[in-house]
Amino acid sequence: MYSLFLVSWLGLAVGAVATLHDGSLNIPPQAQVIDQRSFNTLNSVPPPSQVDGFSPFSPPGTSQESLKARPFHIYDEEFLDIIGPNPTLTLLNHTQSDPIFHEATVWYPAKDEMFFVQNAGAPAAGTGLEKSAIIQKISLSAITPSIANQRNASGSVKIEIVDSNPVVINPNGATNYKGQLLFMGEGQGEAIAPAMYLMNPEPPYNTTVILDNFFGRQFNSLNDVSINPRNGEIYFTDPTYGYTQDFRPPPALPKQVWRFDEATGVVRVAADGFQMPNGIAFSPNGKHVYITDTGIAQIDLDFSLPSTIYRYDVNEDGTLENRKAFAYVTPGLPDGIHVDTKGNVYAGCGDGVQVFNPSGKLIGKIYVGSVSANFQFAGEGRMVVLAETELYYATLAAEGAFPGKLYGD
Ligand SMILES: *[C@@H]1O[C@H](CO)[C@@H](O)[C@H](O)[C@H]1NC(C)=O
Ligand SMILES: *[C@@H]1O[C@H](CO)[C@@H](O)[C@H](O)[C@H]1NC(C)=O
Ligand SMILES: *[C@@H]1O[C@H](CO)[C@@H](O)[C@H](O)[C@H]1NC(C)=O
Repeated sequence: MYSLFLVSWLGLAVGAVATLHDGSLNIPPQAQVIDQRSFNTLNSVPPPSQVDGFSPFSPPGTSQESLKARPFHIYDEEFLDIIGPNPTLTLLNHTQSDPIFHEATVWYPAKDEMFFVQNAGAPAAGTGLEKSAIIQKISLSAITPSIANQRNASGSVKIEIVDSNPVVINPNGATNYKGQLLFMGEGQGEAIAPAMYLMNPEPPYNTTVILDNFFGRQFNSLNDVSINPRNGEIYFTDPTYGYTQDFRPPPALPKQVWRFDEATGVVRVAADGFQMPNGIAFSPNGKHVYITDTGIAQIDLDFSLPSTIYRYDVNEDGTLENRKAFAYVTPGLPDGIHVDTKGNVYAGCGDGVQVFNPSGKLIGKIYVGSVSANFQFAGEGRMVVLAETELYYATLAAEGAFPGKLYGD
């Protein structure tokens, strides 16, 4: 028994290492294997003036076209379980330059709709100081299998403007919270403080501000949010992108991560020491929280600063400790971050959605070849990917951990 088990286990382990590179795996039609050994050495490695932290990388023997042609990139065999036998990626809509597909991707299961927001700081959107970014939504049930089987189905799904009332000013992050949607507003100028808005996901989309200060002081520009599934508290990030993007005054609080207990009204710091705290997501069992630091993007880019996903342990009392550098990301920066029910970590990066296993190894990508600031699972097997001027729909095998829901013990 024992030796038989050992032999077959060894066979499996050796087989697994060999198959990723010897072509004997069943690779789905929209997927391709990227062998990292193919670029451990390059004939010539260009200097930083030619290739910087935002340039997409084409490994030898590939081009941006070939990388986009089969967008599910398998870096490790583990990714096959995530994508399943027939993953698909479909372009649903695109704009000339207006970045209407930015962040705050949030799924409303009762109507099977995905909400998302326009980029609040982008000159091409005209948003920020003069005009607030808008919220829009699509119906996922309108995406039939025949749409999902096309690579380009641009225009086939209606995009609707969501007229929140009172208006959510410059929304950037969002999550599900107590059956409603919770948006992080970045504020506008000096007069409109960054705020947390609870929105009714059904018409008339009425909103209620539930937090807009810390002992009378404005936050900098609230960015992203996640609910601790063990205590129900709201954890959120407050970088200074409103300031670096010219629509908020200079910072008046540290760039840090906060927590808010709505039941008692208690607001307190959860973690500091960030250059730019950004995306945040609890692991499905609530024992860890992943927080991205996108310090690389200041007023100018500084490639010596983090583009990093950190992982903390979450204590019983909701405090965070044991900060660990979980993954450093290239190209671009890890912006929005979400987890699946098995604890794999997905980050919106400079070339699409990058996927890491729970020990921080890059196991695959959903490659769009440009900045994908955020994305969201819609339960099992479905994902919406936002790429600023492009809106994508993906089908795969993995199931997203629903925000605030506890999985396992
Ligand atoms: C997708 O189709 C639309 C409409 O047919 C077209 O305008 C657009 O260029 C196509 N995009 C890509 C990336 O092929
Ligand atoms: C994008 O969606 C809007 C709103 O539904 C529609 O008017 C437009 O034609 C679509 N554009 C493309 C290129 O898919
Ligand atoms: C929306 O309005 C209804 C009816 O007045 C109210 O019960 C609900 O609390 C409101 N929701 C929000 C998020 O403001």
